[in-house]
Amino acid sequence: MKSNPEKNNYCQSLLDRMTLEEKIGQMVQFNENWKLDFEKTIRAGGVGSLLTMRDPHNINKFQRIAVEESRLGIPLLIGNDVIHGYRTTFPIPLALAGTWDTQLVEEIARESMREAVACGTTWTFTPMVDISRDPRWGRIAESGGEDPYLNSQMARAWTRGIQSYHDANGRCAAACVKHYAAYGAAESGKDYNSVDMSERRLREEYLPPYRAAVEAGVKTVMTSFNDLNGTPATANKFLLQQVLRREWGFEGLVISDFDAIGELVHHGFARDLKEAALRSILAGVDIDMMGYAYPLHLADLVHEGKVPEALIDASVLRILGLKYDLGLFDHPYIDESAVHDTLLTPAALDLAEKAAAESIVLLKNEGDLLPLPHTPLKVALIGPMAEERASLLGCWYFNGHTDEVETLAEALEHNLPAGSTLIVEPGCSLGGNDLDLAAITAAASQADLVLLAIGEHFSLSGEAHSRAHLDLPGRQPELVRAVAASGKPVVGLLFTGRPLTIPELVDSVSALLLPYHGGNRAAQAVCDVLFGVVNPAAKLTTSFPRCEGQVPVYYAHKSTGRPIDSEGIIQFDEVNRSNYLDETNDPLFPFGFGLSYAKFEYSDLNLSSAAVKPDGTLTVSTQITNTGKVAGSEIAQLYIRDLAALVTRPVKQLKGYRKVTLQPGESCRVEFTLSPADLSFLDEEFQPIIEPGSMRVWIGPNSQEGLMGSFEIVA
Ligand code: GLC
Repeated sequence: MKSNPEKNNYCQSLLDRMTLEEKIGQMVQFNENWKLDFEKTIRAGGVGSLLTMRDPHNINKFQRIAVEESRLGIPLLIGNDVIHGYRTTFPIPLALAGTWDTQLVEEIARESMREAVACGTTWTFTPMVDISRDPRWGRIAESGGEDPYLNSQMARAWTRGIQSYHDANGRCAAACVKHYAAYGAAESGKDYNSVDMSERRLREEYLPPYRAAVEAGVKTVMTSFNDLNGTPATANKFLLQQVLRREWGFEGLVISDFDAIGELVHHGFARDLKEAALRSILAGVDIDMMGYAYPLHLADLVHEGKVPEALIDASVLRILGLKYDLGLFDHPYIDESAVHDTLLTPAALDLAEKAAAESIVLLKNEGDLLPLPHTPLKVALIGPMAEERASLLGCWYFNGHTDEVETLAEALEHNLPAGSTLIVEPGCSLGGNDLDLAAITAAASQADLVLLAIGEHFSLSGEAHSRAHLDLPGRQPELVRAVAASGKPVVGLLFTGRPLTIPELVDSVSALLLPYHGGNRAAQAVCDVLFGVVNPAAKLTTSFPRCEGQVPVYYAHKSTGRPIDSEGIIQFDEVNRSNYLDETNDPLFPFGFGLSYAKFEYSDLNLSSAAVKPDGTLTVSTQITNTGKVAGSEIAQLYIRDLAALVTRPVKQLKGYRKVTLQPGESCRVEFTLSPADLSFLDEEFQPIIEPGSMRVWIGPNSQEGLMGSFEIVA
């Protein structure tokens, strides 16, 4: 525990007075679904924290039982999933990551906790930082995408934002980095499925964001459901002892995911619940979330000498220490009278609108169709997202109210220029078998412009919602064809929780915006972008596959011995390369891709030297000019490649980025400094190493384009 004598003495003295049953009670997290008498259990000190309970009055009720009616009066921790907002809902994390704006994410995290703490939540199971390269996996919606560097930046931002909020009484909240570890690599993109990867891939690609959160001071870690290389994460000593405690020095508490300890039996890793409890406590899991393994079996395991009570004491001290840090001993209750005024403030909604607009990716804009003119328009809004509310909130909107969400049709009514006409035609449902071709055709024929509002219902992404087919759900593809056949200019608006395989949609529209599931103010944000009030600047953080067969497709792949675009001599011709006979290797849209209404030109790449020593630094810069007619922001990205190394290296790795805002005709230089840490990788013992050799470096608008330079690392 951190050296805080007052805290340590307080917690130790409390621990010294606790019975074994009361200690184990602190290691139990449950809610009203508890099979036994919940209030009686709390009164007996049998529960240490609650989860997924959000009614402030109810929380106060249970808190009073714990504080005023139990023997020792230890307050309850209240945990909830404040994934992208509490009552005010922000864009899904995958969308927010697309802003590449850590300050914005930090502000959103803090704002979310302002609402959550006021309603009693002092522990959020956020940030989710699982590297996600498989859009079949529904939880990609909650992630920051495919890249370790960007996810690490976001992990720090979420953690700082969540843990920096304090209310007037000094009550604050704990973040919980999840799902430790590598949950996003679930085989076949099926949720909860096995994960099996080399330690190298784990350490170089999947662990960095969790480590970033730990380095940013995250107070808790949640273990993942999956098994990793044969050992479930929730009983994995390599992850929980070797890496998390010994290598990273993490001193906070570890909680399982939802009954993940009990699930060790289903993994075939524990004969029964008692063995599951034994394997998890010995691996280092402090709290059993929504499970019966610890409450029913830990005491017996201690009495039988299989679990030292010292292990229980260590867990309980971490739990008491967290309650102390969060101010719960001094301020355990909520001021229920203050809750209403805390929620949905104008400032929070303005932030939600700003975030939603800045999360929208411009994927196509043929002939600069966008932004729309501020002259009267005859618009047909066609598609199942036209009048949708709930799906704009996204898959984790637990506390959001759908009746507080404006539909796109409603937003257009007051955003279209005076004198415009708006025809609204859903055309089909978001996933059903219905399709009204006549109505679609009629609506398009009456308009000069079609806004095509399509995408995924929020229930198609998120936990336990993986898809094997990644095209537009239901009969939306036919709706797209019918609209395209009208011959009218079409702007696609794709509201989705994941990358979809949409090559036909891309070909069918003149312009395409990706608002994802953008939260309370998604509709207004779309209008802000449609009319140029906001110039889109977001960039993809996951590659968009052309088809499911390409999955997983990501930019930081290896070269292989037969790369499709190799230099030098290869014995075999084009056919015998690492490629497909029936599809290109390239994604539909690459990582880092996003357009603007402005135009950005990169020129004059400059390296401070042609050679750098292993302990030296190299500065790389380039000029960026806005050659467009409007001001805009560009996220310039820095990538490197190690051309030959002790182990194979990715063909590109993101090592930095800068967001610049330029007026028409304005130029600026962006400059990056590559440090030894940027140029190192892990050797065979997984120790950082920098090797002499040839390197490439790019600065560009996405992972496929940019100005390239070369340099040598010299001994
Ligand atoms: C769920 C999720 C996890 C969440 C927890 C509590 O199963 O996997 O992300 O924090 O349970 O709701």
